[in-house]
Order: sequence, then C-alpha cells, then structure tokens
Amino acid sequence: MHKIAVLPCDGIGPEVVEEGLKVLDVAASKYGVEYETVNYDIGGDRFLKTGEILPDSVLAELGAADAIYLGAVGHDEVAPGILEKGILLKLRFELDQYINLRPIKLYPGVETPIKDKGPADIDFVVVRENTEGLYAGVGGTLRKGTEHEVATQTAIYTRMGVERCIRYAFELTGQRAKDSKLTMVDKANVLTHGHDLWTRAFAEVGEEYSNIEQDHAYVDACCMWMVKNPEWFDVIVVCNMFGDIITDLGAMIQGGMGVAASGNINPNGVSMFEPIHGSAPKYTGKSVICPIAAIAAAGMMMEHLGEVECGKAIDQAVQDALASGKLGDLSTRSGVSTQDSGDLVASLI
Ligand code: IPM
Ligand code: MN
Repeated sequence: MHKIAVLPCDGIGPEVVEEGLKVLDVAASKYGVEYETVNYDIGGDRFLKTGEILPDSVLAELGAADAIYLGAVGHDEVAPGILEKGILLKLRFELDQYINLRPIKLYPGVETPIKDKGPADIDFVVVRENTEGLYAGVGGTLRKGTEHEVATQTAIYTRMGVERCIRYAFELTGQRAKDSKLTMVDKANVLTHGHDLWTRAFAEVGEEYSNIEQDHAYVDACCMWMVKNPEWFDVIVVCNMFGDIITDLGAMIQGGMGVAASGNINPNGVSMFEPIHGSAPKYTGKSVICPIAAIAAAGMMMEHLGEVECGKAIDQAVQDALASGKLGDLSTRSGVSTQDSGDLVASLI
C-alpha cells in the first residue's frame, strides 16, 4: 500500500491535482495498485489565515510518506519567495531531493514552435541539481533601501552534491534507449571556481562510464542548440539555476507548460512529483488549465514507486489523448475544460 501525500497548494494547483488523481484512480484499479492519499492543506490561503507555512509536524509526516504529489505554489496576495522558499524549496532541501528530473519529450500530435522538428527530434531529459547552487539561499543585504545598499547571493557547490548529481545522470543515460550521450551544461568559462568543480567532477566520474558519450555545452549555447538542434541531446546534467531556466525553454519546445512534468527525486528517500508550471492565480477556478503536466507527473510517480505498468499506462493514455487532437492547443484558450481533459485521459487508460 503506497502512502501518497497530496499537496494541491495554490491557484490552479488543486484543479490539476484533481485530474491527476482521477486518472491515477482508474489506472491503479486496472493494474491492481494499492495506494492511499492524505491531503495536506498548505499554501497561500493557510498562510494568510494562520501564518503557518509548512509546520514541522506536516514536514515530518511528508517525510514518512512513500511519495508526494504537488500541484503548484505561489499566491497573488503573498510576497514572492515566502511560499516558494517556505514550501517548495524547503521540501526539496529537507527531504534531500537532490535531483530534479525533467523529461523534454514532444509527443505525436503536439505542436512545437520549432519549425521542421518532430517527436523524433525532441526527446531528452534534463537532470537538474536540486539542493545547491544559487538556491542554497546564502547571502545577505546591507544598508537596505539606501543608495549604498549591498546585496550578495552566493552559489554553493559541494563536491558531494555535484558528484551525486552527475553520477545519477550517468546512470540514467545508461538506462535510456537513445544515443547514450550525456551533456553537461555549465558556464565554466566565467564561473571559473564553481563550474570548474563541475568540470572536474564530470571528467572524473565520466572515467567510470566510458561506454557513454560525454559532451559539454555552455548554457547560452545550450539555449541555442535546444532550439536549433534539439535532437543533439539525450541527457543533460546541469546546476540548479541554469536547470530552472533551460527547462522552461524545454517546456516550450515540447508543447508548452501544459505538458511538462517533473520529479524531485531522492533516490534513497521520499520523492515529490509536480507539473513544472506555476499556480497561474489569474486562471484559478476557470477550468481553462491543461492538466496533462500534472497527470504525467502522476505517471512518473507510479513508475518511481515501482508500479511500472501503471505508470506506463498513464503515460500511454496521455500520449493517446494528445494524439487524438481532442485537447486543442493545450493553452488556456484551447476550449477544452480542465475536467474534460482529465476525463479524456482517464477514459483512455
Ligand atoms: C520550478 C519553479 C521553482 C524553481 C520556483 C517556484 C521556486 O520555477 O520548479 O522550476 O525555481 O525551482
Ligand atoms: Mn522554474
């Protein structure tokens, strides 16, 4: 019996999570997967009402779950950073989910803005380091608000943190059926301390994986190749901040934020699955958000829990729904409601 903690959180989070759970329910019963869900009411509304963000008791319970399924974090009436750092980043850090796994896959029937590229060209995975770098929160402000204000924000890279991420990426590359090629994306020509550590760790760990083709790209060039020659990529390994940025670009080339799913992985602990899109507050309750990303995240969660058939069935139903052309352009103007999209996927399991 898998214990799944559900955190719908803010904005359109609850709407897409509902569709993900709808599809999960159908797939789980078809494949005999037993699970229970516990819903946690955290997010902007709770913060505004009670001042609580992520109580320690909730954190402890999440740490005892088998997996976490999250909607989206971010609330119009709460200053930026409070919920993002207090909920999402806190969970990633406290539960040591050191990998952010983001597949960039264009499914048949989905439109990409990139001319002359199709599903065979856009199929790679970004392994984003998820607990260090600029996200570590190291820094401070001096003389705030004055004309002599000083602000620092320091990127932290540890040999351990970088190495475990690179090792995970090599292992994943070895398991994929594509080109067996791992590209490290960095800015080692400017970040000559931090990204030198990455470069050396990549070369040293890479010696253990001589069967895997090893490549490297600076992050600015990577953005260019992702648009110009996305077929060159199989697996990318990248630091936290650059991984954040290139995966929004990745989401766009795979058909938009409506389809991009992710997993925050602790290979030895509790992992958390979520769509990569945000809470889109202005669309809350309007039923115009495409829930495919959240549904696909539920599929990733099942595979991670070892329920491979169930996970693959969810992924296949997502692909069939997309190929059917019945989901429109997947944008908020698609004309297909969030619920109807979820019903369609559920019917295809
Ligand atoms: C993401 C998001 C988060 C991040 C924000 C909400 C803190 O953009 O998951 O990509 O920057 O990691
Ligand atoms: Mn992001």
